[in-house]
Amino acid sequence: MPIVRLTNYVEAYRVRALSPDIHRMAGRDDKNALTEFVNSRILEGMKFGLGDVLVDIGCGDGCLLRMAAGKVSRRIGVIPTREEKERLETILPDVTFLTALVQKLPLESESVSHIVCNSVLLLLDSESDVTAALQEMARVARRHAKIWIGEIPDADEYEELHMYRGTSEWDLLRHLRKNAGWRPALGMGRRLVRGFLGRESLVLNSARMFHATPERLIRMATQCGLKLETYFRHQELDLRGDIVDSAHRFDYVFRK
Ligand SMILES: C[S@@+](CC[C@H](N)C(=O)[O-])C[C@H]1O[C@@H](n2cnc3c(N)ncnc32)[C@H](O)[C@@H]1O
Repeated sequence: MPIVRLTNYVEAYRVRALSPDIHRMAGRDDKNALTEFVNSRILEGMKFGLGDVLVDIGCGDGCLLRMAAGKVSRRIGVIPTREEKERLETILPDVTFLTALVQKLPLESESVSHIVCNSVLLLLDSESDVTAALQEMARVARRHAKIWIGEIPDADEYEELHMYRGTSEWDLLRHLRKNAGWRPALGMGRRLVRGFLGRESLVLNSARMFHATPERLIRMATQCGLKLETYFRHQELDLRGDIVDSAHRFDYVFRK
């Protein structure tokens, strides 16, 4: 797989599902400990009980669903592509996986007691997609259901980190030279040549990041029928493994 050009995240995760390393499906490259940490915090925050039905929307590498074994009566993972679903079914045969987008959930209305949607809404194309996703979560949630919506940034992290978003090799090289200097640009040039020769795979993606201040996200969710229980700064692990607050991301717990 040489150079792949993409314009959205669903296709990006379809490509990730083809990697030999299943953890790439969680989107945190070479950071398995971070995925475990993030999902263990969700597990604590949601306080699952036996008899609960847990739906993890955009369930990545299945980490949360694996950790929730024995803690709820039914586990359902929603994942956008067939490639991801097939991969997950091989490692978690006792979990139900459904291929769908968060904007259109194949679940009965008022059928779920616990919904997790972590690090997913920031990947949607537009505000109307995020509204559709919030409406769908409100529709499938039972009365008093708990809904965790995690890792919503309050600013565009790509812009802040000067990350290139686009599908043109030349623009990428120009962007790197301008923002990082000649060395990284030349390094990328070498990788692109290897990509052209089919010796390295590189993904160029023009998709942007949804972001909203807490006030705006809470307003959007409230308009879709969710009630805020609490929200807090998302926590992650730094390079030494210490727990730190995220600079931009927030986690939210809603009730129906
Ligand atoms: C960054 S990963 C997060 C995985 C997991 N929730 C976690 O926090 O470890 C993003 C996940 O969202 C999924 N995804 C992307 N777009 C989606 C959409 N429109 N609907 C549902 N899931 C989506 C991807 O397939 C991937 O599993």
